[in-house]
Amino acid sequence: MKENGNQVTNVSAASSVTNDDLFVDDLPPAQNELRSDFIESPAAQKRDRMKVVGKQVAHDSAVGHVTGDALFVDDLPFTKNELVVDFIGSPVAHGEIINLNSEELAQLDGITGVFTHADIPGHNLYGPVIQDERFLAEGVVEYVGQPIAIIAGESREAIRQAKKKLRLEIKELVPVFTIEEAISAKQFIGTTRRFKQGNFEKAWSEAEHTLKGTFICNGQEQFYLESQAALAWPGEHGEIQIHSSSQNPTEIQEVIAEALGLGFNEVVCVCKRMGGAFGGKETQAVIPAVMVALVVAKTKRPARIAYTKDEDMRSTGKRHPYKIHYKVAFTADGKITGVKFDIFSNGGAGADLSTAIMERTLFHSENAYFIPNLIFNGTICKTNFPPNTAFRGFGGPQGMANIENIIQEIAISLKKDALEIRRLNCYSHDERNVTPYGQTVRNHLLPEIIDQLVETSGYRQRLTEVEDFNRQSETYLRGLALTPMKFGISFTTKFLNQGNALVNIYKDGTVQVSTGGTEMGQGLNTKIRQLVADEFSISYDDVRMMITSTEKNNNTPPTAASAGTDLNGFAAVNACRKIRKNLTKFASSYFAAKQGLDPAPEHICFEGGKSGGNSLVFDERNPENSLTFQELVKLAFMDRVSLGERGFYSTPEINFNRDTEKGEPFFYYTTGAAVSEVLIDRLTGHLKLERSDLLLDIGESINPGIDRGQIIGGFIQGVGWVTNEDLRYSEKGELLTYSPTTYKIPNIQDLPEIFNVDTIHNPHHQINIRRSKAVGEPPLMLCLSVWIAVKHALSCVRNDVCPRLNLPATGEEILLRLTELNDYSKEHRTTDFSALESEVSLVVLPSSSAETKATV
Ligand code: MTE
Ligand code: HPA
Ligand code: MOS
Repeated sequence: MKENGNQVTNVSAASSVTNDDLFVDDLPPAQNELRSDFIESPAAQKRDRMKVVGKQVAHDSAVGHVTGDALFVDDLPFTKNELVVDFIGSPVAHGEIINLNSEELAQLDGITGVFTHADIPGHNLYGPVIQDERFLAEGVVEYVGQPIAIIAGESREAIRQAKKKLRLEIKELVPVFTIEEAISAKQFIGTTRRFKQGNFEKAWSEAEHTLKGTFICNGQEQFYLESQAALAWPGEHGEIQIHSSSQNPTEIQEVIAEALGLGFNEVVCVCKRMGGAFGGKETQAVIPAVMVALVVAKTKRPARIAYTKDEDMRSTGKRHPYKIHYKVAFTADGKITGVKFDIFSNGGAGADLSTAIMERTLFHSENAYFIPNLIFNGTICKTNFPPNTAFRGFGGPQGMANIENIIQEIAISLKKDALEIRRLNCYSHDERNVTPYGQTVRNHLLPEIIDQLVETSGYRQRLTEVEDFNRQSETYLRGLALTPMKFGISFTTKFLNQGNALVNIYKDGTVQVSTGGTEMGQGLNTKIRQLVADEFSISYDDVRMMITSTEKNNNTPPTAASAGTDLNGFAAVNACRKIRKNLTKFASSYFAAKQGLDPAPEHICFEGGKSGGNSLVFDERNPENSLTFQELVKLAFMDRVSLGERGFYSTPEINFNRDTEKGEPFFYYTTGAAVSEVLIDRLTGHLKLERSDLLLDIGESINPGIDRGQIIGGFIQGVGWVTNEDLRYSEKGELLTYSPTTYKIPNIQDLPEIFNVDTIHNPHHQINIRRSKAVGEPPLMLCLSVWIAVKHALSCVRNDVCPRLNLPATGEEILLRLTELNDYSKEHRTTDFSALESEVSLVVLPSSSAETKATV
C-alpha cells in the first residue's frame, strides 16, 4: 500500500502510533518522520505538538479487541439468578398459528417461563417509521424465524431439552418471495415515491440513442462478529436497566417502555460497544432487547440473550435486493439527456427502515452525474422474508450500481471508453451541478478526483493493455473500470440530525465524555476524545469516553448515516466550549487580581501540553504567570465554578420537502472514485481482484489511521457484496446460506494485491467539525469499480452485443454470462426487449448509426 504525501494524509497501518507517542517529545525516528507530514513552520510546530486532532491516534479499543479485554454484552459476568432467554421462531415463511404448547413447555424442568404476545402488557406493535411489526407473532407468521414465543430458563441445556418437546401447529399460507410476485399480488410497503425533473418523455422521443434494460441486485448479510444480544436487570419499582448491542439505545429504551407499559424514564439502555453493526443493529436490536425486558418484567430476575450466528443470519433483515427497470436517452457523444427508473426493492415482511432506504436510493440514483430530464419511481415490495434493514450505504449502493451499469452500457453501445462517458456526464462546478432533488452540489472535486486518479492509476495505458490482453488470451479475461462516488451526509429524516453530549471535568483535571453516539468499531470514541482533548489543549490520555447511556444522553438518534462524529463531536465540543467559557471567566479574574491587570477573558490562552497533561493556562499579556490546567480546575472548583456541561448540536441548513420532492437534504457530500482491475478465468468464471486505486475527499481527517481503516474496510465489504456474497434461499423461503461455511465474506486473500488508498485535499470544504467529512459508509460504494470492471471484461468477449450482468458477479454468474456470450446465436437475438427478457437476453448493438434507434 502506498504512503500518502499530502497533509490530510494516510499513514500506513503498520506504523500505527500509540497514544503516548503523540505527546512525548523524543519520538523514535519513524514517528518523527510521520509527524513531519503535519509540521509546516516552527510556530505551527509548536501548536501542532499540542493538537491531537489530525493525528493517527490508535483506536480506543484496538488493544482490547485483540486481547479480549474489550467487553461485549455476552462477556458481562453472570449475575445471581440470571435467566437464559431464547425464542421459538416460525418454521414457515407464511402461515397461521393454530396451536403452541406453551403452557406445557413452561412446566418443564429448568424452564421459568414461556411467553407469547398475550403476555405483553403494553403494545406488541412497533416499527421505526411505520408501526407494522409485532414483537411476538399474533395469529400469523410472515417469515421464517419470526419470533412466536420467548422461553426463559435456568440453563441453555434446559431450553434445548424444552425445544425438543415443542409442538407448534401452523397452517401454511401461500408465501410471496420475489419482487414480481409482490407486484402481481399488489403487496407494497408505503406508497411509490417519484422524483421528477425536466421532461423525460420529450428527451426520450427526441433522443439520438436510447437503451432499455433491467438491473438486478441481491441482498447482503451484515455479518457483524457479535450477534444480536441483550442483557437486562430489574430495578426498583419496575424499572429496567438493559445492556444492548444497539446502534440506537434511545429506541431500545422507548420501545421497551411501550411494550411493557412503562414511562420512558423507567427504562435505561446502555451500550458500551458493539462487535460490528453495519446498520444491522440500527433497528433490529430491538427484538432481543424486548425479549429480555419482558422476561425481566415477568420474573423480576436478570435475563440475557445472545443469538447464535445461525439464528441471527436466519431471522434478521439484510441489505435490500433491488430490481430497476431503466430507460435512458443519450446523445451520440454519450451525454445523458434523460432517464426513467422504475425502482423496486424487496422490503421483506415489515416496513422497518425500507421507506427511508428507498428515499436514499432516490437521492443516489444519479450518483455523480448530471441528468437534465428524469423520472425516478421508488416502490417497496412486501414479501415473506425477514424485514430488510439498514446496511452501510442505506439504499445508496443499489441506486448507484444501476446508473454505473447504464453508463457502461452507453459506452459499450457507442463503442467508446466508459471513462469518457463518465467524465462527460459528471457533475461540474458552476453549471450542471444540480441534483434531481434540487440540491446544488457545492465545493466538490468530482472531476478533479477522476482526473487525478486516471493519472495516478495509469488508467489509459492499462486500458490499452487490458484490451490487448483480452484479444490474445483464450484462458483469461481482464477488466478495468473507474467509478466515481458521491454520498449525501445527513439523515434524510431531518429530526434525526441532532446530538447531545455531557462533559465532566474532575478536580484532577481529567475529563469524562458521554454522548448518544455508539461505538461499533468505527472509531467514534477515539475521534471524540481527540476533539475534546483539543478543546482544553490537554492530553488525549486525560479524556475518557464513558459508556453510552440513555440516562446521560436523552432522545438521541441512532449512530448511523455516517454522521456519528459530526453530530456527537459537535455536541461534545459545544459542551467543552461552555466549560471553557466558565474557566476562562474565572482565569481572567484570577490573573487580573494577581497581576494587577483588568480582567480580560479574550486574553486567556489554553496552551498545552506534553504527556501528563502539563497544559498551561495564562493571560497572554503576561504569559510567564501561568497555571497548569489541573491547578486552574482545582482553583475554579474552590471558587464554585461549574465543571460539567451538556452540549447540543443540530445540523444547520438542511431542508427537504417530501410533497415537492425538492430541497437540500444533505449538509455536504463525501466523494471519491476508484479504479479496479479484475482477472477472470474464462473457463470457470473465477474472479480475482488484482488492483484497486482509491481516492477520496474526506475533508481534513480527524484521525487518518481510523479513516484509512474505514476506507479499506468499507471498500472490501462492498467488494463482498458485488462479487462473492450470495444469499440463497430454499423454495420455502429458508435461508440456506446461514453460516460462514456457505456464506463467504471477503477474507485477506480477496484484498487486491496492489491496493493504493489516498485522500485529496479539498480547500473548498470549510464546513463541519474541524473541516472533516463523514467516512463510515461512502467508501463501500467504491466497490462498484470492481463490478463494472467485470462488465467491462465481458464486453470484450464480442463486440456485437452488450453483455448482461447481475449483482453479485459471483463465479457462477460470470460463467453464465460468458456462456451466454459464447453460445450467442441468431435465436438468442433480441432487438427490443421487455423487462423480463432483458434478464436473460443480450442486446444487439447497432452496426451503423442509422440503425441506432430501431435496434437498441
Ligand atoms: N465500521 C466498523 N468497524 N463497524 C461498523 O459496524 N458501521 C458502518 C460505518 N463503519 C461500522 C463501521 C456504518 S453502516 C455506519 S452508518 C457508520 O460506521 C456509523 O458510524 P459513524 O457515523 O460514527 O461513522
Ligand atoms: N441513514 C441511516 N439511517 C437512517 C437514515 C439515513 O439516511 N434515515 C433514517 N435512518
Ligand atoms: Mo449505517 S447503514 O447508516 O448504520
